[in-house]
Amino acid sequence: MAARMDVLLGAQWGDEGKGKVVDVIAPDYDVIARFQGGPNAGHTLLFEGRKHVLHTIPSGVFREGTVNLVGNGVVIDPVIFLKEVNALKAIGVDVRDSLLISRRAHLILPTHRALDAASEAEKGTSKIGSTLKGIGPTYMDKTGRNGLRVGDLELPDLKERYQSLVRKHERLLGLYEKPVATKEAEEEWLAAVEILRTMPFIDSEHYLDQALRDGKRVLAEGAQGTLLDIDFGTYPFVTSSNTISAGACTGLGVAPNRIDKVVGIFKAYCTRVGSGPFPTELHDTDGEHIRKVGHEFGSTTGRARRCGWLDLPALHYAVMINGITELAMMKADVLSDMDNLQVCTGYLVNGQRTERMPYDITGGIEPILEPVEGWGELRTEDPLPAGLELYIARIEKYVGVPINLVSLGPDRAQTVLRQGTLVH
Ligand code: GDP
Ligand code: IMO
Ligand code: MG
Repeated sequence: MAARMDVLLGAQWGDEGKGKVVDVIAPDYDVIARFQGGPNAGHTLLFEGRKHVLHTIPSGVFREGTVNLVGNGVVIDPVIFLKEVNALKAIGVDVRDSLLISRRAHLILPTHRALDAASEAEKGTSKIGSTLKGIGPTYMDKTGRNGLRVGDLELPDLKERYQSLVRKHERLLGLYEKPVATKEAEEEWLAAVEILRTMPFIDSEHYLDQALRDGKRVLAEGAQGTLLDIDFGTYPFVTSSNTISAGACTGLGVAPNRIDKVVGIFKAYCTRVGSGPFPTELHDTDGEHIRKVGHEFGSTTGRARRCGWLDLPALHYAVMINGITELAMMKADVLSDMDNLQVCTGYLVNGQRTERMPYDITGGIEPILEPVEGWGELRTEDPLPAGLELYIARIEKYVGVPINLVSLGPDRAQTVLRQGTLVH
């Protein structure tokens, strides 16, 4: 019988723990498919005492028998991709056994990275805080119909196409009065492309159509998070792709009526890396405590993440915009020894209370915070303490969907499956 595709995505500002949950549930799937973003993502997995950070490669890569697909909505930097492939090879994982790449995925050039840096420098203090991986300029070339795609690597005139795009970038970089990308960067890129060329390229829309017809279980793995979505995030402090569930349709070529579950991943608190509004941000010792205990430093850039209380109106918004059917709550252990926890249940906008995420949250929005009963140490083998069960029930009531997975630590094994469809 034909199957339908599940989607797993971030319900906050990214770094919710998507990589960990994909790794935990991957054995239940035949295919794990990334649908947007690129090396701006850093998805961390931890098992058998070893930590792995993936940027382009889907998080099912450590599970035997799982096909890992990089979809058309993803942007690939061949140099970073090659580093990932080599790092995996060094620990005995040959991605060639399991990786498929869509011909329609766009390529990040060294000059895209240079343009990203130039644009950020020009913005000065109002910069986005981009990861400087060239994401914005690459998606601009995609929508501007200038981009280079993975399928172009099979064409005889690739070099000419590459040079023509680089010339355009050089003219743009001239406007910023910034130096163009170096010759070494170009050589590194061209060498990496040769390796990328040896990977199996596919038409992901046809591949997934057949896989679903054959009853295969497919999980779409999101990058970034709902509040970084280009349309529905805190624009302009967002990434350049659709991070929401609709992005899984366009980023893989799967029709909306073939989507089944939508799993939203969120932390028991909130973090954000880079610039932009963050209503519940903590600028005090509580924020520092969460950052320290939660190791809240970027997996891709190493930057300190901003930390704050859980924002329920924002989570509710993510449930709405994605059609989230179930949630996974991460990092409750980080709050274990805090006894003054709070949660945001609404905002004051121009003196009026609202539970709805407004159009613009950059100014004049104040979180309404309520106290939360704490909980002590969490152990996977013990029942969840009453304080945490109360917190879970409160969140479920507010957002209207169940929390079916609770993560109590970074390791694969530190996971509690509660009920519902995540449990097979
Ligand atoms: P992703 O981008 O959504 O995959 O998330 P990241 O990997 O960027 O960031 C999540 C971080 O939290 C990683 O360092 C994980 O190892 C870690 N992590 C995931 N789940 C938990 C958890 O339940 N507790 C703790 N303490 N750490 C966790
Ligand atoms: P994962 O998949 C957290 C943020 C950047 C910046 C903004 C735009 O690991 O959750 P970009 O480089 O995309 O142009 O940056 O988005 N950002 C992320 N924040 N997690 C991510 O990915 C992110 N990818 C981009 O910090 O604020
Ligand atoms: Mg991350």
